[in-house]
Amino acid sequence: MNTFKADIEEIRRRAREKMDEGAVTAFYQADREKVIGVLNEVLATEMVCTFRYKNHYYMAKGIHSEAVAAEFLQHAQEEEQHADLVANRIAELGGNPDYSPEGLATRSHSEYVECDSLEDMIREDLVAERIAVSTYSEIVRWLGNDDPTTRRIIEEILAKEEEHADDLAKLLVRIGAHHEGH
Ligand SMILES: [Fe+2]
Ligand SMILES: [Fe+2]
Repeated sequence: MNTFKADIEEIRRRAREKMDEGAVTAFYQADREKVIGVLNEVLATEMVCTFRYKNHYYMAKGIHSEAVAAEFLQHAQEEEQHADLVANRIAELGGNPDYSPEGLATRSHSEYVECDSLEDMIREDLVAERIAVSTYSEIVRWLGNDDPTTRRIIEEILAKEEEHADDLAKLLVRIGAHHEGH
């Protein structure tokens, strides 16, 4: 049991050895290229969700639904924060955050859909959130203990997407109740 000091020295030696790799040490267990690839898909998903919510925000404002518009705007801002978290992690891993508009929709898990009615907007957003919840859950399971930092980031984003889905489900009920009242 007298190996702890030796291990520390070994850790320090290896840390110095590859200083140019930044946050990635020899203790990084995951396949870095694969993780970067998956994170770039998440980045695309968050960008597409940002753009879709922005479109829905301006369209909802146009039909004077201020409460719903405010919800769309808040979601748009939170999706953009998610994109930043993911891009930052990609860079930490030594990758290139792919912001290229070319192929953005193909890299994304969710879709960019424009709608004519408030109800359709909310429904499309709910579909997109549910897709994000299911693919991010899979990513969390796939990462396991191989890259706990990336997993923690995806878990944090996942919790927010579940909150978004819940917000939208409640909005749908409210909109439905409003229609029945007429
Ligand atoms: Fe998001
Ligand atoms: Fe979301």
